[in-house]
Amino acid sequence: MNYKDNLNLEKLPAHIAIIMDGNGRWAKQKGFLRAAGHKEGTTAVRDVVEGCAEIGIKNLTLYAFSTENWNRPKLEVDTLMKLLVSSLKKEIKTLQENDIKLNSIGNISNLPKKARKELQDVIDKTANNKRMTLTLALSYGSREEITNCITQIAEKVKSEELSIDAVDESVINEHLYTRNLPDVDLLIRTSGEQRISNFLLWQIAYAELYFTKILWPDYRREDLFEAIYNYQNRERRFGKTSEQLS
Ligand code: FPP
Repeated sequence: MNYKDNLNLEKLPAHIAIIMDGNGRWAKQKGFLRAAGHKEGTTAVRDVVEGCAEIGIKNLTLYAFSTENWNRPKLEVDTLMKLLVSSLKKEIKTLQENDIKLNSIGNISNLPKKARKELQDVIDKTANNKRMTLTLALSYGSREEITNCITQIAEKVKSEELSIDAVDESVINEHLYTRNLPDVDLLIRTSGEQRISNFLLWQIAYAELYFTKILWPDYRREDLFEAIYNYQNRERRFGKTSEQLS
């Protein structure tokens, strides 16, 4: 089935988030080093980003490096950081051509200086792009984000900049790394694992979850169109009954 031609472009998810999993297993299956899986993963990143821009997705967030990933062997962490720098250098052209703005979420101060600088450079250069926002979750952990949010709000209450009665869901949203993004509508995880792994816990409250066995390096835009088609054929009730919706 050609999923792209069967999509309802009026009902696209406003925000898609992806847990790109399976790079290591892909490499192992082929007898390669894990690094080769991550490198091939960047090809999938490019294809999926272009696919999103092509059909009119406004927000795409990719889980590129979690706070827990710092515990991997140093060689693998270094490889991922180098890949990030080289991809940013190489892909700025793709971002500009497709009018895509780069954004990041996570505790960026933990990244090596070179990666931070390259990231900031691409964020600055693409700041006025309008077609889509691509957010990279880097050194990101949802619990860290929520802790950081609570600390900031507590400081403001303490200094009387904010009244405790004024703290509501919108105030919390404004203190998360995702403050400028809409809630996630569709969360995809590749490689067959069915876990959230500390990703966007607050933001996926009403997201549709979609799991596929495809390993990330093999994932392509047609697979994403299939996930969106599946999403569009679900009934999202947001706590209401089917009768109330119709
Ligand atoms: C999970 O696979 C993937 C990662 C930890 C890193 C994701 C990074 C990329 C796709 C490449 C760089 C990205 C950008 C945006 C430049 P895994 O290693 O956990 O796989 P496994 O579970 O099979 O071992």
